[in-house]
Amino acid sequence: MTTYLVTGAAGFIGANYVHYLVDLEPDARIVAVDYLGFASNLPNLDPVADRVEFLRADVADFDQMVALYREIMPDYVVNFAAESHNDRAILDPTSFVHSNVSGAQALLECSRQVGVRSHLHVSTIEVYGELPPGQDSFNEASSLNAKTPYSAAKAAGDQLVRAYMQTYPDMNIRMTHCANNYGPYQLPEKLIPLMITNVLRGRKVPVYGDGLQMRDWLHVTDHCAAIHTVLHADLGPIPAEAATNPALLPIFDISARHEISNLEIVHVVLRHLDLDPAEWIEHVADRPNHDRRYLIDPSKLEQELGWRPEREFESGLAETVRWYVDNRAWWEDVLAAKGNLQVDWSTR
Ligand SMILES: NC(=O)c1ccc[n+]([C@@H]2O[C@H](COP(=O)([O-])OP(=O)(O)OC[C@H]3O[C@@H](n4cnc5c(N)ncnc54)[C@H](O)[C@@H]3O)[C@@H](O)[C@H]2O)c1
Repeated sequence: MTTYLVTGAAGFIGANYVHYLVDLEPDARIVAVDYLGFASNLPNLDPVADRVEFLRADVADFDQMVALYREIMPDYVVNFAAESHNDRAILDPTSFVHSNVSGAQALLECSRQVGVRSHLHVSTIEVYGELPPGQDSFNEASSLNAKTPYSAAKAAGDQLVRAYMQTYPDMNIRMTHCANNYGPYQLPEKLIPLMITNVLRGRKVPVYGDGLQMRDWLHVTDHCAAIHTVLHADLGPIPAEAATNPALLPIFDISARHEISNLEIVHVVLRHLDLDPAEWIEHVADRPNHDRRYLIDPSKLEQELGWRPEREFESGLAETVRWYVDNRAWWEDVLAAKGNLQVDWSTR
């Protein structure tokens, strides 16, 4: 029986990946770990609770993690565990370094000491920073140029992953950088669920600054499929030239090449809810140091591993809006447990 260890499994993408795995590999053993931090929501795993073993643990706690590895002997490890919200990273950078750097390293070290078939570290487009004018997109060869506490902590985790890939090439480590995700089970502190849950409660939608920040969007199920493809790909040895060319490392950038401004996406969501943007949008103070634009090129993943996104943006977004409308109890419980998730930067 194949055993998967999925960390950060009570968060948005981790939970979606566990659901995806349960469907795809009904016979697999799935061990889900999460320290149940602020962004987590254990009920995200309720629909698959009878198929998953859950452990509350901090991935940065090496002793606990290595004991878990020795007990379950995972074949595959997928690390989603991270603090992930840019706004909260500005208010509390330290917890981001703990999870995104120390946590990433502790898991790499467990995989090195115990041995696994492959270890996939989930990273983000944001490690590349902001696209300079005149450049179309980032790719695996782009320099890391993080400029926010969240993306800097993720980039530090990336550097450790790259160092482990180069130093221990037989470990079979892979890493992905993905565009912004949307879909079910996303905490309503992030743009899309925040705006939907606001209007469903009769509140206006806050748009940071002019709303012209450009973002690259992918449905979470397409992200899960890309991760699974990379995790299982037969990649062969890392070539010596990878020492100076990171595009040759087992790193894959994931995107549907769907770029849209934050303001436009608010308009699309309001249209799906039959609401007039003029009445429902409120421009509010932007958060400091907000990236203006980033876009990532998935050509390597498409050409080498044959992955393609399957969800078209308009219908994927319409379905997502419908999910939050239909699952009001889910987000009302989240809001009751966590309080107001909207940050007011005019008073900070
Ligand atoms: N959301 C996106 O659009 C997006 C895009 C690209 C990449 N990513 C990456 O995907 C991963 C998952 O993102 P998400 O949106 O699901 O985030 P999320 O915040 O919804 O979930 C992260 C989960 O990790 C858990 N966690 C954090 N630190 C931990 C620790 N030390 N030990 C155990 N559990 C811990 C949290 O409790 C939470 O449940 C992150 O690494 C993020 O950088 C996210």
